[in-house]
Order: sequence, then C-alpha cells, then structure tokens
Amino acid sequence: MVGRIIKIAPSIIAARWSDIYSEIERAKGGDFIHVDVMDGHFVPNITLGSDIARAIYELSEKPLDIHLMLEFPDKYIRNFAFEGVFRITFHYESHAFLSAIINLIKSLGKKVGIAISPDTPVERILKVLDRIDQVLVMTVYPGFSGQRLIENVIPKIYKLAEIREKLGLGFVITADGGVNWENIYKIGPIDEAVMGSAFFMKK
Ligand code: DX5
Ligand code: ZN
Repeated sequence: MVGRIIKIAPSIIAARWSDIYSEIERAKGGDFIHVDVMDGHFVPNITLGSDIARAIYELSEKPLDIHLMLEFPDKYIRNFAFEGVFRITFHYESHAFLSAIINLIKSLGKKVGIAISPDTPVERILKVLDRIDQVLVMTVYPGFSGQRLIENVIPKIYKLAEIREKLGLGFVITADGGVNWENIYKIGPIDEAVMGSAFFMKK
C-alpha cells in the first residue's frame, strides 16, 4: 500500500513562548500553523487574540489555520480574517447559527471548518457538510495541549470519510489533540493532524 500523506499543523500554543523565535523556526517545518484561540468561557483556558496571531504570521510567513474555541465566535471572526489566514474553524457546540457563520467566513474569503468536540456525534453536522471545507475532529476535550488522545473518537473519523465518499464531498478531515508520531497512522483516514506538544517535543 502506498503511504498516505497527512499534512502536519504545529499547534503554536504548545510552543515554548520564552523562546518563541526559535519555536517559530521549528513550526515552519509544518505544512501550516494551527492557532488555538480560547476565551476562558467556551473552554477553561485563555490563549491569544488576533494581534498575536498576526505576529505569528509575520514572523513565520506560514499560512494560518485559526481554531476558535469561543462561546460567541461570530463576534471575533472578522478580526481573524487577515492576510495569511487561510481557514477559520469554529465549534458546533458554541453559540453559533451554523449557516450564518459559514456564510460570514466565506464572505471574508476564507475556508470554513467546523470542529466537533469528543461527545458531539457526526450526525449533528450532516446538513452542512456540503458547504464546508473541513471537519476538525477533537481527539481530546478542547482547552489544553498535552492531553492524551481519546481513542473512542476514532470511529467518527471513519464515519466522516464514509459519508464524504458516499456523497462525493470535498471537505478535509483533521484530527486535533494528543496526536504524536506514533499514533498518527492509527487514527483513521485523516488528511491533516494538528500536533502540539509532540511537535515541539514537550514530552
Ligand atoms: C486543544 C487544542 C489543540 C492542542 C493540541 O484544545 O485545540 O490544538 O493545542 O496540542 P497537543 O497535540 O499537545 O494535544
Ligand atoms: Zn486546536
């Protein structure tokens, strides 16, 4: 069997911030940089806003993938639609009217992703799968890097790939959380893997 190519997105929140210039050099080895934006409400952690994200782009010149873990994503989407960002992903579980947010992100010229937390079944997003570019399957509960991958989420990845094939759709499947160089090929038919602590060699 020919090896599958999985794109790797280093998750910048897992970098050593006291040494951010060299960490950004390291992150340039990935396909694009994943930026986790947390508001302290949707998840019990606060990370960074659009100014820092912009600086990461200026320093790295790598395309940015924005993962919004916000209670009200619609309030902040415009701030993140700057040059350098190629995709904005929001959570199904947030206070989000799916169609409106999809339209907003598209109107800003960015690709659209929907993230689903470990307890959210794939069926919840079925009706919008033909309008989005990515499904981000959380393989940990959102909030922190450095957690262990939850293996019982893997069937959702297979299910999404099956639906995609059956309906002839084009969204990519991303796994986010607890992915490392050992488990990456065991988590099913993913196109992209976000990698935080493993990429920055924190454990
Ligand atoms: C968790 C974030 C992840 C996380 C990944 O809420 O969405 O992107 O930073 O880090 P690791 O790979 O360490 O789980
Ligand atoms: Zn993420």
